[in-house]
Parts: sequence; structure tokens; C-alpha cells
Amino acid sequence: MFKLIEYKRSKDLNKRKKPLKYTKIPKTNKKISKIGFGTRQLKLNANSDYLRRLIDTSIDLGINFFCTSSNYQEGKVEAKLGQLLSGVRDEVMVATSGGVSHRDGKIIVDSSPVALEKGIQQSLKNLKIDYLDHFEIHFHDPLTPLEESLSYLSDLLENDIIKSVGTSSFHTDILKKWEELIPTSLVQVPLNPMQTKAYNSVLGTCQQLNIGILTYSPLLGGFLAKKLNQFPSYLNKMFYSPDNWQNSVIQLTHNLAELSQETNKTISQLILNWILTHEELTSVLVGTNSIDHLIENGLIVDHPISSLLVERIDKIINSQIELLQTNNIRDKPRFEAIVESISTNPEGDYVATFESGLKISVPRQYKVGAKLYLDIETGEVIKHVFS
Ligand SMILES: NC(=O)c1ccc[n+]([C@@H]2O[C@H](COP(=O)([O-])OP(=O)(O)OC[C@H]3O[C@@H](n4cnc5c(N)ncnc54)[C@H](OP(=O)(O)O)[C@@H]3O)[C@@H](O)[C@H]2O)c1
Repeated sequence: MFKLIEYKRSKDLNKRKKPLKYTKIPKTNKKISKIGFGTRQLKLNANSDYLRRLIDTSIDLGINFFCTSSNYQEGKVEAKLGQLLSGVRDEVMVATSGGVSHRDGKIIVDSSPVALEKGIQQSLKNLKIDYLDHFEIHFHDPLTPLEESLSYLSDLLENDIIKSVGTSSFHTDILKKWEELIPTSLVQVPLNPMQTKAYNSVLGTCQQLNIGILTYSPLLGGFLAKKLNQFPSYLNKMFYSPDNWQNSVIQLTHNLAELSQETNKTISQLILNWILTHEELTSVLVGTNSIDHLIENGLIVDHPISSLLVERIDKIINSQIELLQTNNIRDKPRFEAIVESISTNPEGDYVATFESGLKISVPRQYKVGAKLYLDIETGEVIKHVFS
């Protein structure tokens, strides 16, 4: 298998192994590695030397994009990443997202200029840097006019405090509005064998508006990377998933495990290679705390898969997706959300705030206590119960 020793950092930058490919971040002159380092899962209590080696190994593999959020563990992940990147700041690009803070265990979605400013100042402090290579507004805030949020971000762009902007709100009407108001570089969407809807829904708009696509959750939080016999119980607690969806995921991992054995590539390598066949995407964010997994993922570009193998992976994925094609709410994995309060935004639209703190624009018949079922992939309302 892979030898860690090969990845000891070389003092001479030119001697380091950098097998990854790079894509330009639209509307900038910066190039980003096809695989980016996601930090949502970063273990804060892990051995510091090990984490340092994890970062060093990423850089040696050619990863130059580190993506975090003020939302992860209330800024503690940003602070850890700041420590880990000290001394290598000039070699990497650092991205974070904001417009979200925490109070009493709940999230507060707020993209007002005052909240953005406070959050960005804190992120810079956490990360111990004086500019951000990329900043994203994490959740759309329907209570703040987008013009106000983006006018503030335009000032930061002009003053080089941030070098590019983007959003994790991947609805095309929101994206189009963004591009009217600010040069938008990137949008983040989930993309993995079980979640292709969001990517496909933004692709055309992104191509038209020259917005790059950062994809996340390539391994659906990691559990697609192993052959499953049972649906992980922690996922059952996070969202409701019908039996046929769970069975489909399990079957998918079995089919990929068979292919993995036959081809001598890990499931993760098969999936990441399949994701990278979506050539329009700018970079895929993968999260890991394991140096071995990092190397396994980072080396895939050195080991491309044949078009025949891509076809076989497509076939495995499509057979599961076809099984799941249904318009029936009972068969869709979903979050349940209860409306905690209703407010009106400056445009006169109704905005529901849920117990979790998330906010969405809703029709006027919504009242406190209404129950909504949200698609786990897109966050769209798939059913509401008003009683
Ligand atoms: N904008 C958004 O709303 C949003 C949402 C979700 C995620 N993200 C970003 O995307 C990044 C990645 O997404 P994610 O964390 O949801 O999911 P992911 O990358 O699909 O899964 C991460 C998990 O996969 C495991 N893993 C990675 N490589 C592996 C390998 N080769 N073999 C076996 N297991 C492997 C890791 O465990 P080990 O530590 O054991 O390797 C880790 O727990 C996040 O860190 C975050 O930066 C953004």
C-alpha cells in the first residue's frame, strides 16, 4: 500500500510530490487543487503532532485549499486550523463561511453587515491571518436584503480582506441574484453517488454565470467508504430515512465493494474518481482525520480509472437511483422541522424560523407549530402539515 515515509515534507518545494490537478477559481487568478481539505470532522482533541503531519501531508500531496466554517464547533475548528496552518500560510488558500453564530445551542442565521463584520473579524482572529482567500455566506438569510449583505462583502473585496466570495445556498434564483450584485466565484453543493440532484440543478446556471462549483460530502459523511451491513444508527438520529433508501445505500456499498476487490482500488478511490468525472466542478472537499485515508484520496489523480470502469460505476449508481425514483413522501429521506416563529422581511415576505435556527421564506398560511418535511439533500420543502 502507500508508504507514509514518502510524504515527509521536503524543504525544497520543487521536490515535493504534487500529483493533483488544479482549476482556476472563477473571477480570480488563483488556482485551487481538485481535492480540497474539508474540516468539518477535524478532531480537536487529536494529537497535535499527528494533525500537523496531516496538514503537511495534504500540502505535499498538492492540496492547497483548506475550507472551514465559523459554524464548526462554534469557531473552535477555525482556531485549530489557524494553529495548524501557521508557518505554511503562503502555500495555501484558506476559505471560511459565516453569517451564522450560536446561542444556547442553537444556530443564529444572520447575514446583516453588522453580524458579517463581527463574524469575519472573529474568523480572521481564529485563523490567525489578515485576509481570507475565499468567504462564503453559509445559509441564506431571508430576513436580510441580499443587497445589504453583498454590498458589505463588496467593500471587503475592494479592500483585499477577502479575495473571492461564494455561497452554500444553491438555489438557482438566489445564485442569479448573487451574480447580479457581486462577482460570485464559487457555490458549494453536496455530490456523491446518493446525492446528485443539487449539483445537476446548479450546473447550467454556474456555467452560464462562470461560477465554480465546490462539492462536499463525497463519501456521504464517510459511510459510503465501507461495505455496510447495517445503516449507521447515528444517521438515523440525524434524519428520517425510509427502509428502501437505507437498503439502497447498503446495496450500493456492497456493489462498490465488489468492484473495489476486483479492481484493487478502494471504494473511496472509486467514488472520488467518479466524482472527478464531473469535469465542470472546481474542487471536491473531502474530510479526514487519517493520514492513510488522506494519501489514499490524494493519490487518485495518479491512478485514474478507465472510461469502462466509470461506466460500470455509473451503472451501479443508476440502478440504485432508478429504484428510488419516487414521488411518494414516505420514500424520501427527510428532516422534520417545526416552525418556532414567523417574521416578515423588508420585502413583506413571511419567513419561518425553525427550532434549529434555520430560516426560510414560506407562504402566508404558515403558522407557528406548522411541521415541514425538508429534503435532506436540497433543503427544499417536500411536505407541510399545518394543523
Ligand atoms: N457547505 C456545507 O453546507 C457543507 C456541508 C457538509 C460538508 N461540507 C464540507 O465538506 C467536507 C467534506 O464533507 P463531509 O465531512 O460531509 O463528508 P465526507 O468527506 O464525505 O466524509 C468524511 C468522512 O469520510 C471518512 N473518509 C475520508 N476518506 C476516507 C477513506 N479514504 N476511506 C474511508 N473513510 C474515509 C473520514 O473518516 P476518517 O477520518 O476515518 O478518514 C470522514 O469522517 C467537510 O469537511 C466540510 O468542509 C460543507
